[in-house]
Amino acid sequence: MSREILLLSGPNLDLLGTRSPEIYGTSTLEDHVGRFTALAGAAEFTVRHVQSNFEGDLIEEIHAARGRCVAIVINAGALTHTSWALADALATFAGIKVEVHLSNPAAREPFRHVSTLAAVVNGSIAGFGPTSYELAFEAVRQLVSPD
Ligand code: DQA
Repeated sequence: MSREILLLSGPNLDLLGTRSPEIYGTSTLEDHVGRFTALAGAAEFTVRHVQSNFEGDLIEEIHAARGRCVAIVINAGALTHTSWALADALATFAGIKVEVHLSNPAAREPFRHVSTLAAVVNGSIAGFGPTSYELAFEAVRQLVSPD
């Protein structure tokens, strides 16, 4: 069985650290990915991380992960609330899928209350800041090898 996890980061997440720190904190995307990758490595998973501000890039990464990766963990940024194309792409991936957010979109503006991805993922983790990424990895680990 594959031990590769695809970690996807959508639009504007490259600006973490300086983007709305009162909402997203001061950790950079590199910090979040580093923590996720360290946890994954300790459990003998490998991680491919891709950040893109372009929807099509994220969709092509999902296509390429089919049959190759055991799981996809995705923070799609605002595409979470708008992209049926991303949801359709994720639906074609037969492995584990976890949606992750630093903030809690349900507690924010109404346009963030809808997730196009929610119906096609195993589950969603939101609102725990940097810990969201750690919980997302733990979700993958548990789904691969239940305790
Ligand atoms: C986010 C929440 C989204 O609503 C927002 O557009 C983001 C970040 C989060 O991690 O909290 O870009 O996905």
